Amino acid sequence: MRISPLPTSKIVLVTGASSGIGEATARHLAAAGHHVVLGARRIERLARIIGELTEAGYSAEYAELDVTDIDSVRGFAEAALTRHGRIDVLVNNAGVMPLASFTDLRVDEWNQMIDVNLRGTLHGIAAVLPSMRERRSGQIINIASTSAYRVDPTAAVYCATKYAVRALTEGLRQENTDVRVTLISPGFTRSELADQGGDEQARSVAKNAMDAFGLPASAVAEAIGHAVAQPASVDVSEIVVRPTPQG
Ligand SMILES: NC(=O)c1ccc[n+]([C@@H]2O[C@H](COP(=O)([O-])OP(=O)(O)OC[C@H]3O[C@@H](n4cnc5c(N)ncnc54)[C@H](OP(=O)(O)O)[C@@H]3O)[C@@H](O)[C@H]2O)c1
Repeated sequence: MRISPLPTSKIVLVTGASSGIGEATARHLAAAGHHVVLGARRIERLARIIGELTEAGYSAEYAELDVTDIDSVRGFAEAALTRHGRIDVLVNNAGVMPLASFTDLRVDEWNQMIDVNLRGTLHGIAAVLPSMRERRSGQIINIASTSAYRVDPTAAVYCATKYAVRALTEGLRQENTDVRVTLISPGFTRSELADQGGDEQARSVAKNAMDAFGLPASAVAEAIGHAVAQPASVDVSEIVVRPTPQG
């Protein structure tokens, strides 16, 4: 049997690349020799990261992106496609986690989690799947969470969005035998995720856990890098990576 050579430099799009896991993933994949396209709303952050990456000799660019807006996501993908002729990998990473009890009725934040975590992931899939199917090649990596496997108080809506991402990722994988589909589910990871929104007490519980034993974002980036590095015939379907003390 002939074994195909490992692909070298890939065109990789990362959503939510302005901080945390997305930023670490962009840095990790750029250092591995891929061309990374970073997307997020805080473009001044993206510009600073790109400056550092290009100064280090890596290949990277950025664009403003709001994953809740299908036109913004399509524009992000189409610009990359026009410039590079292909998209090899999409890392659907953007997410928000305003934690609070149901009794608070923070309906706007429930909708925000659905819009960013769930609709945003679907928008990313819609933007890249046609060209990947046409080329019969590509990889879609969705970032879920250990919250896609268990529900905790104050996190029910967040968990619901992550359970949904897990479900749709499995269906996407089943329907696509040329495009690789990967679910990455981190446990507590040090990032800015618990910095905004939600109930102050719930936020500080999450923040304290992240500070006490959270993974460095680079640990999640390495798991993503492992999935990307496999040959086209090997689909790493699912990785759960959590801090050992999380239990
Ligand atoms: N940290 C953890 O413990 C943990 C555990 C499991 C799963 N996760 C998941 O990992 C992913 C990354 O989170 P993180 O921990 O790295 O948190 P983070 O540091 O807060 O990063 C979240 C990223 O999402 C982006 N984002 C938010 N809303 C967006 C929008 N509408 N359009 C585009 N980008 C948007 C943010 O960029 P802008 O604000 O600049 O747009 C930011 O770059 C999320 O899906 C999260 O649910 C995290």
